[in-house]
Amino acid sequence: MSNIESKLKVVEQGWKKLKKLSTIPLDLKRVALIRGKNLEYLSDAGNVESLMLYLGLNDEGLEEFPESIHQYCGQGLRIWQYPIQFSKYLIDLGKLKIDSYLEIGIRHGGTFVATVEYLEKFSPLKSAIGIDIIPCPSLLEYKQIQPNAEFVQINTQSKEYQEWLKKHERFDLVLIDSFHEETQCRNEFLSVKDKANIVAFHDIANIKYPGVRKVWDEVKNTNEFECREYIDQYENIDLSYMGIGLAVRKERL
Ligand SMILES: C[S@@+](CC[C@H](N)C(=O)[O-])C[C@H]1O[C@@H](n2cnc3c(N)ncnc32)[C@H](O)[C@@H]1O
Repeated sequence: MSNIESKLKVVEQGWKKLKKLSTIPLDLKRVALIRGKNLEYLSDAGNVESLMLYLGLNDEGLEEFPESIHQYCGQGLRIWQYPIQFSKYLIDLGKLKIDSYLEIGIRHGGTFVATVEYLEKFSPLKSAIGIDIIPCPSLLEYKQIQPNAEFVQINTQSKEYQEWLKKHERFDLVLIDSFHEETQCRNEFLSVKDKANIVAFHDIANIKYPGVRKVWDEVKNTNEFECREYIDQYENIDLSYMGIGLAVRKERL
């Protein structure tokens, strides 16, 4: 099989899997755990790391999480992140005083909700938009307690998405975390490159997604951004998983 054929096969398998996905409702009562904390508490990486456990983690791909935190998976906000990485990423975002947020690929919506709640503690968000190709009923419910949050069901590889993007002049922060294949990841980056002050990528250190790493390396090589990486790994996990890359436009710093 040629290189192109094997890449197309990966895309095809991915799309088949995607069509079967459904979302699980979030326990949105847990946002009170963030709302109840002061800025001093939320500025400490250790505090935020343990707070994430109580907010609740996703349990898809449980083998990527160390056994010591399995008890926190499959509940609450179902955040699909490593607390050891996401906590440090959030702390840097807090310092950047983000005023608008777009998350591309939200799954159950947990990372979106946690990010919005955390950012709101540091600076008011004018808008927060989560997009996904599959429905996310929890985000409709979330809008009742966070009126600035919005969910848009759309395929980022469609013309409809390009039209939708034209309605938005600027995003302060965009997180790209959808289908982790090189071409789609690059397309998603290029779609927001000129509209975003800050672009984050999930899975830059994930052994399963070399395409994301490749696109991330390209972003670093543009020299337009100051790039930071949150790629700490848990000690008792043999392979490298997840990892967040944060590219901040130099003029935004
Ligand atoms: C890894 S999950 C997102 C996890 C989420 N950001 C979190 O941290 O909890 C990837 C999501 O991307 C969505 N996705 C994949 N391809 C997409 C596309 N072409 N357009 C929109 N969403 C897409 C999938 O439906 C899935 O829900």
